Amino acid sequence: MATICIPSFLSILIIFTNFIPHLANNTTLPVIFIFGDSTADVGTNNYLNSSNATANFPITVSTFPTRGQQEGSAMVSTVLIFLVSPQDHSLGPAATEALLSKSLFFISVGSNDIFDYFSSKCKTPEEKFISNMISAYGKHIKNLYRLGARKFGIINVPAVGCCPSQRLVQKQINGTDDCYEAMNDFALAFDSALDSLLRNISLKLPGIKYSLGNAHQMTLDVITNSEFFGFNNVDSACCGTGTLNAQGRCNLTAYLCPNRPDYLFWDLFHPTQKASNLSAQTLYNGPQYYVSPINFAQLAKNN
Ligand SMILES: *[C@@H]1O[C@H](CO)[C@@H](O)[C@H](O)[C@H]1NC(C)=O
Ligand SMILES: *[C@@H]1O[C@H](CO)[C@@H](O)[C@H](O)[C@H]1NC(C)=O
Ligand SMILES: *[C@@H]1O[C@H](CO)[C@@H](O)[C@H](O)[C@H]1NC(C)=O
Ligand SMILES: *[C@@H]1O[C@H](CO)[C@@H](O)[C@H](O)[C@H]1NC(C)=O
Ligand SMILES: *[C@@H]1O[C@H](CO)[C@@H](O)[C@H](O)[C@H]1NC(C)=O
Ligand SMILES: *[C@@H]1O[C@H](CO)[C@@H](O)[C@H](O)[C@H]1NC(C)=O
Ligand SMILES: *[C@@H]1O[C@H](CO)[C@@H](O)[C@H](O)[C@H]1NC(C)=O
Ligand SMILES: *[C@@H]1O[C@H](CO)[C@@H](O)[C@H](O)[C@H]1NC(C)=O
Repeated sequence: MATICIPSFLSILIIFTNFIPHLANNTTLPVIFIFGDSTADVGTNNYLNSSNATANFPITVSTFPTRGQQEGSAMVSTVLIFLVSPQDHSLGPAATEALLSKSLFFISVGSNDIFDYFSSKCKTPEEKFISNMISAYGKHIKNLYRLGARKFGIINVPAVGCCPSQRLVQKQINGTDDCYEAMNDFALAFDSALDSLLRNISLKLPGIKYSLGNAHQMTLDVITNSEFFGFNNVDSACCGTGTLNAQGRCNLTAYLCPNRPDYLFWDLFHPTQKASNLSAQTLYNGPQYYVSPINFAQLAKNN
């Protein structure tokens, strides 16, 4: 079997690239472009013929007001609700560059590269793999900048070793449901390099502004202080089968927990809508500890 050793970023299994222009009549933030994985999928993946990674079956569709919204991928929708007020609007090409410079470019990638690194038993050393990811990330940002992008809202890689699928891996290693720390350490090393990349890039590209959301810290804090945040289960999936409901995916015949907001995780990989809402709130107006150097609200206003 071929070993996947190249950070793929925009095209693997559960990585999706969503290109969703949201138009609003607010001149401060006219458009939001989203480049993200399944945590940023607001239902648009259903329209990709080549993707099997969709969640458009009854139990995943929540009460969320956005059309096509699915439990387990609600964060971006909530951020959108905070930031724009969508409206029909058309635009000539002449205004595009000015429009792009005021728009928000939302990027949330990297988790799937790390999952793949572990599942493919990739032989590339960790440091090399991370530096490849960071260099690809830098190229994408610079390309977007060259096209006119100036405002970037970026989410780092969460503590992915704590999701039910990886706790299951840890359980197979030593019988405990603990977070898979080797994977969390990998994510942390990536996140630290991403932070460094953004600091460096912002010094080199005039006019660029960014917010870096620390999803990694958010995950760990919610797990450590679960009661404070109102969760009474932070290790199992609400929907799925087998141990931690993480051995089989969520589908129509899987176990479904009676009260979703009790759970941090909706399925073996993705957070519940309650957890996503918490992240969205924090990204939008949270303190520097979670989103820096400025939060998304400041990024939207700042010109
Ligand atoms: C957009 O324009 C409509 C009608 O002109 C107005 O009612 C609405 O408040 C505006 N929304 C924003 C966010 O400016
Ligand atoms: C997906 O498949 C349908 C039906 O075959 C086709 O009409 C549509 O154009 C395809 N969409 C894309 C994005 O390829
Ligand atoms: C999607 O599912 C179909 C039918 O189960 C399968 O033939 C196809 O290979 C799958 N595509 C991908 C990209 O996994
Ligand atoms: C539109 O932009 C103004 C100016 O910065 C801001 O105060 C307001 O909150 C924005 N409105 C929405 C709906 O985002
Ligand atoms: C199992 O491994 C985890 C992570 O390395 C560690 O925290 C835990 O103490 C270990 N438990 C046992 C029983 O060995
Ligand atoms: C950022 O710049 C510093 C100083 O030049 C350098 O040591 C570091 O490797 C750079 N980080 C990244 C991720 O490019
Ligand atoms: C749900 O997944 C399980 C295994 O994970 C499978 O056995 C079952 O057939 C699936 N049910 C449906 C309706 O796809
Ligand atoms: C999440 O936020 C949306 C939008 O504000 C709201 O409609 C929904 O009820 C919230 N869901 C949960 C579980 O808190």
